[in-house]
Amino acid sequence: MGFILILHYAVFAVLLSSLSSFRIVCSASLSINTDKEALLSFKYHLSSESSETLSSWNVNNSSPCNWTGVLCNESRDRVIGLDLSGFGLTGTISPHIGNLSFLSSLELQDNQLTGTIPDQVGDLSRLSVLNMSSNHIRGAIPLNITMCLELEILDLKENEISGTIPAELGRLRNLEILKLGSNQLVGDIPPSISNLSSLDTLSLGTNNLGGRIPDDLGRLQNLKELDLTINQLEGTVPSSIYNITSLVNLAVASNNLWGEIPSDVGDRLPNLLIFNFCINKFTGGIPGSLHNLTNINVIRMAHNLLEGSVPSGLGNLPQLRILHMGQNKIYGSIPPSISHLSSLALLNLSHNLISGEIPPEIGELGEMQELYLASNNISGRIPSSLGNLRQLSQLDLSSNRLVGGIPTNFSNFQRLLSMDLSNNRLNESIPKEILGLPGLSTLLNLSKNSLTGPLPQEVEALESSLEELFMANNKFSGSIPDTLGEVRGLEILDLSTNQLTGSIPSIGVLAYLKKSKAKKLPITSDSFKVLHQVVSYDDLRMATGNFNQQNLIGKGSFGSVYKGYLTEGTAVAIKVLDIQRNGSWKSFFAECEALRTVRHRNLVKLITSCSSLDFKNVEFLALIYDFMHNGSLEDWIKGTRRHASGCALNLVERLKIAIDVACAMDYLHHDSETPIAHCDLKPSNVLLDKDMTAKVGDFGLARLLMDRAADQQSIASTHGLRGSIGYIPPEYGLGGKPTTSGDVYSYGVMLLEMFTGKSPTHESFLGGLTLAQWVQSAFPTNVRQVVDPELLLPTGALQHEGHPISEEVQHECLIAVIGVALSCTVDSSDRRISSRDALSQLKTAAKALLKPTLDDMEEGASPHCVVDV
Ligand SMILES: *[C@@H]1O[C@H](CO)[C@@H](O)[C@H](O)[C@H]1NC(C)=O
Ligand SMILES: *[C@@H]1O[C@H](CO)[C@@H](O)[C@H](O)[C@H]1NC(C)=O
Ligand SMILES: *[C@@H]1O[C@H](CO)[C@@H](O)[C@H](O)[C@H]1NC(C)=O
Ligand SMILES: *[C@@H]1O[C@H](CO)[C@@H](O)[C@H](O)[C@H]1NC(C)=O
Ligand SMILES: *[C@@H]1O[C@H](CO)[C@@H](O)[C@H](O)[C@H]1NC(C)=O
Ligand SMILES: *[C@@H]1O[C@H](CO)[C@@H](O)[C@H](O)[C@H]1NC(C)=O
Ligand SMILES: *[C@@H]1O[C@H](CO)[C@@H](O)[C@H](O)[C@H]1NC(C)=O
Ligand SMILES: *[C@@H]1O[C@H](CO)[C@@H](O)[C@H](O)[C@H]1NC(C)=O
Ligand SMILES: *[C@@H]1O[C@H](CO)[C@@H](O)[C@H](O)[C@H]1NC(C)=O
Ligand SMILES: *[C@@H]1O[C@H](CO)[C@@H](O)[C@H](O)[C@H]1NC(C)=O
Ligand SMILES: *[C@@H]1O[C@H](CO)[C@@H](O)[C@H](O)[C@H]1NC(C)=O
Repeated sequence: MGFILILHYAVFAVLLSSLSSFRIVCSASLSINTDKEALLSFKYHLSSESSETLSSWNVNNSSPCNWTGVLCNESRDRVIGLDLSGFGLTGTISPHIGNLSFLSSLELQDNQLTGTIPDQVGDLSRLSVLNMSSNHIRGAIPLNITMCLELEILDLKENEISGTIPAELGRLRNLEILKLGSNQLVGDIPPSISNLSSLDTLSLGTNNLGGRIPDDLGRLQNLKELDLTINQLEGTVPSSIYNITSLVNLAVASNNLWGEIPSDVGDRLPNLLIFNFCINKFTGGIPGSLHNLTNINVIRMAHNLLEGSVPSGLGNLPQLRILHMGQNKIYGSIPPSISHLSSLALLNLSHNLISGEIPPEIGELGEMQELYLASNNISGRIPSSLGNLRQLSQLDLSSNRLVGGIPTNFSNFQRLLSMDLSNNRLNESIPKEILGLPGLSTLLNLSKNSLTGPLPQEVEALESSLEELFMANNKFSGSIPDTLGEVRGLEILDLSTNQLTGSIPSIGVLAYLKKSKAKKLPITSDSFKVLHQVVSYDDLRMATGNFNQQNLIGKGSFGSVYKGYLTEGTAVAIKVLDIQRNGSWKSFFAECEALRTVRHRNLVKLITSCSSLDFKNVEFLALIYDFMHNGSLEDWIKGTRRHASGCALNLVERLKIAIDVACAMDYLHHDSETPIAHCDLKPSNVLLDKDMTAKVGDFGLARLLMDRAADQQSIASTHGLRGSIGYIPPEYGLGGKPTTSGDVYSYGVMLLEMFTGKSPTHESFLGGLTLAQWVQSAFPTNVRQVVDPELLLPTGALQHEGHPISEEVQHECLIAVIGVALSCTVDSSDRRISSRDALSQLKTAAKALLKPTLDDMEEGASPHCVVDV
């Protein structure tokens, strides 16, 4: 019908030129209708939940050019782009996609799409970008995809794609980026890949690829990134690879590769920033030419069969952050020139045959955060210069032949989390200072030495949250300090094979074990190892006076929080989850899982948990935390809590709290094992302990970002539970899945609230204007009009440790802080700053505010906030 109509007008167009424009409109609407039908079919292949997300995709909405995620060309007569990344889509990809014949960009990444890639993508002859990464797509890479000759970007990483890499991919001559990593691909790397002469990135890591690396790969003279890690590749690295002078990132770790690494590699690949050859069978020496790579960031050669000594010229790498050569056969001593690696944050030379002494020059590596020299043949004393490594968070010198004592200036290690000096020949007494390290929270292992003297009473200073303490096999004498009982959170304590007398005092929370499981525990001073256990319903009933309302300190979205005292008097907060509500189980496990893997000074510490039956035999779930004496930040902002003097939180205190929370967030996003999004940052979830240190709690919605399979569904399907009104980033409303940048948004809103005193849900923000927009309108000139009137104090009224802070300096600080808050609350998630940048900008603001006491603030505000590699 439409076709006849066109012809009809076409004939007349010759005579009636005024009608010719109508002809074009008409034919164009026909093709846009094809696109519309294709899109609607695409939508119908998705699950019904996803269809809701795409509610604008409606047959009654005349042009698809207005639909979410659809991009048309300028004259709006064809669909040329489809970007549905991160929409939380489930379902399969419709074969009708092939009808979008003008499509040049198809972005479906970051969803939960299943099924296979339809053959019909081969019909998209104009396609230049295809990104389907991070879905659950199965099946093989369709051969037809190799008909998309315009493809420049093909990204299928993080799916469940199986089969081989089709040799025909070599036809896609325009390909610049090819990412197939983290799938289940088998077979060889086809030699035809070497024909993709425009290739910039070739990323095939984490598959089951075998065979040899094609000899010709060196023809890819524009390649910058080559990632072949975690496969079963064999043979040598073809020498042509070392001819790709453009290479920036060369990673072949975790394969079965052998042969020598060319001694001139550093001269042939002058642009390298990352060199990762770990876990293979490389032999020969460590190439001396590496020291010519003046820009390199990372060198990893661990777990190989490398021999020889650490090249003494290695000092000339000012950008090197990570040097990992553990588990090889490296001998000789550590060259003092290593002290010139001025950016070095991680040095691992463990499990080698290194001898000689630790060069005192190592103490010059001021950026060092992790130092591992374990299992070598290192002798002499521990140089006291090591105490200068103030950023150190991990120190492992175990299993060497070190003698003498532990330098007292190890008390400088304000950020140390874990220290292992076990299995040496240390033979002096323990300096009491090292037991006071405030950050020591994971491990202190001093066992298998010949340490003498009594155990210092200061062991109580380990109060923070040390999990494992090993002091066995030494020559300690005297009695076991009573104060050991104060060490809460301890999970393993081993004092066996010493000459200690006395009994083990009740160990904090572990008193429960004594009560309920004492018979099973070998509680003797010879051998005492206890593991963290859950507590019973009865214990908690007792602790809270039968869940007395007087002990109720709060009600959250998932249940009630009580204050209670454990048998030996420790105050705790007990969160009892409301089983009636759907999601309690999910919340319980989300929180346990999140807190199991994370530990940080600015996160509320989960002491233990309880999952049992209550007296009515009904399922009962509870989480037990350290009690926070100063309540929630919300109480302080609302003014229901004030200092004894009647004062509200002042600028310095608020800034410290803001930095504490940023530290916690930065840790969750960047430093925890798997990135975690908290998903519900708001003032009522920030708690203040005795000394007003802020700790982030309530992980009920926390989302482990890497755990794609199980977690995603449970959280994604708890609809409205993605945060709290006022703090939810706009993209969550559009179906975006929880991300770390979503947290940054919530954090930004919280910052605005802290410094303006206005809640985002205040009635003045009901009519469309948001808190952020309101603040933005006054920023920066009229900032005074929006800040909390309790905040900006006249010169002299605000002091920090005796130094008055002028009104002008306060004002500048407020501008800086509000600037950070506004960059956090940008609507578009990809233009928001990261939590790390927010943290560093706030620290800068704090420095400017507290200039005269700069050093105090650096230590005081965030002593254990490890800003990592
Ligand atoms: C489209 O409009 C028709 C008539 O108004 C209505 O019956 C139908 O439900 C609408 N379809 C959708 C998907 O809204
Ligand atoms: C698209 O949306 C704009 C404004 O949102 C509207 O003016 C226009 O009419 C819409 N076009 C179509 C074809 O629906
Ligand atoms: C849009 O695409 C159609 C179909 O290719 C083409 O005829 C038209 O010229 C394009 N318009 C623009 C502005 O690119
Ligand atoms: C659209 O694609 C489907 C599936 O490939 C096909 O059956 C159909 O004929 C196509 N429709 C048009 C109008 O091209
Ligand atoms: C796949 O490609 C072959 C030619 O290589 C073609 O005959 C076939 O129609 C294509 N299939 C689809 C669904 O496009
Ligand atoms: C594909 O999408 C992912 C997720 O958004 C993104 O990280 C990646 O850079 C994209 N791939 C390319 C080659 O742009
Ligand atoms: C590379 O391309 C050339 C020219 O098209 C072709 O002759 C050759 O077979 C291709 N090489 C491989 C390994 O596919
Ligand atoms: C590497 O480049 C050098 C110098 O251009 C050349 O002589 C050599 O043949 C190349 N080696 C390989 C394996 O491509
Ligand atoms: C690399 O270092 C060596 C000395 O080890 C030197 O002879 C050579 O000239 C350097 N190469 C470059 C390109 O600087
Ligand atoms: C250091 O190297 C040893 C030996 O390769 C290894 O077991 C250990 O995990 C490494 N530690 C880190 C943090 O890389
Ligand atoms: C360790 O070093 C000492 C000399 O310092 C040497 O006598 C001994 O053989 C070395 N042990 C090993 C296992 O290399």
